[in-house]
Amino acid sequence: MGKRKTIQDFRQMKQSGEKVTWITSYDYHMARMANEVGINMILVGDSVGMTVYGYPGTLPVTMDQIIPHTEAVRRGAPDVFVVGDLPFGAYHANVEDAVMNSVRFYKECDVDAVKLEGGKRVTPQIRAIADGGMLVIGHIGITPQSSAVMGGFKAQGNTAEAAKILLDDAVAIEEAGAAMLLVEGVPAETGKIITEALSIPVMGIGAGINTDGQLMIVSDMLGLFETFTPKFVKKYANLANEIRIALQQYINEVHEGKFPTSEYCYKMKTGEADKLKAMMMKS
Ligand code: KIV
Repeated sequence: MGKRKTIQDFRQMKQSGEKVTWITSYDYHMARMANEVGINMILVGDSVGMTVYGYPGTLPVTMDQIIPHTEAVRRGAPDVFVVGDLPFGAYHANVEDAVMNSVRFYKECDVDAVKLEGGKRVTPQIRAIADGGMLVIGHIGITPQSSAVMGGFKAQGNTAEAAKILLDDAVAIEEAGAAMLLVEGVPAETGKIITEALSIPVMGIGAGINTDGQLMIVSDMLGLFETFTPKFVKKYANLANEIRIALQQYINEVHEGKFPTSEYCYKMKTGEADKLKAMMMKS
């Protein structure tokens, strides 16, 4: 635990080389644990669509769906910098939507920043949100909301030409007033070049070790999400297995009459059961 970090803290960390730690979270309990161990940032990502709701992708997620998750995370993590992720459709039509939905995150969930996906094409939205006095984080590289256009979740910025396009996007995002940038699924070399080119903090998920900080999807790193595992995911635990073992043991113990033993049972005061039996005999 500790004091909630500010954007100024993250800028200083970029200068000093101290790495920022960032995970996703979608519920109170995970957020509380992240708060306890001193994670710097939490993203309430639209990955909630896949990790919690079982959708095949992030596109169905709505503002009304992600808001309660963000509120719960804020309650669990009062000392962590919380980021609300603008879902597909929440900022695509115009800058007014982008501002209004960012305002919703701030007013209803007390977030510290919002995030949106895309390069130069979303700079008007970034500028409008920043002009509204809110912190906004850009997101380039693999951008799951446009995975259909990208042909799936494929690494981006692999060639000099592709990396240059990403770099130009990154510079445009900084110039539009973004407070931070997230780069996803690019070679480590591309991650390093973008990080060094920008004065704002650059976070990476699958962007190598040289970014100013790392983001991991909590369900991936804890081994809870088993549908697929991107190359850049390190599993720090295998909770899905632990859960299956626990559930199987519960089933076995109930079937075998081993659960609940007396330590898990409430007990009547001495004599009350006999008294009840006598009352039942009379009636
Ligand atoms: O929604 C999310 O968790 C994200 C990550 C994929 C970066 O945006």
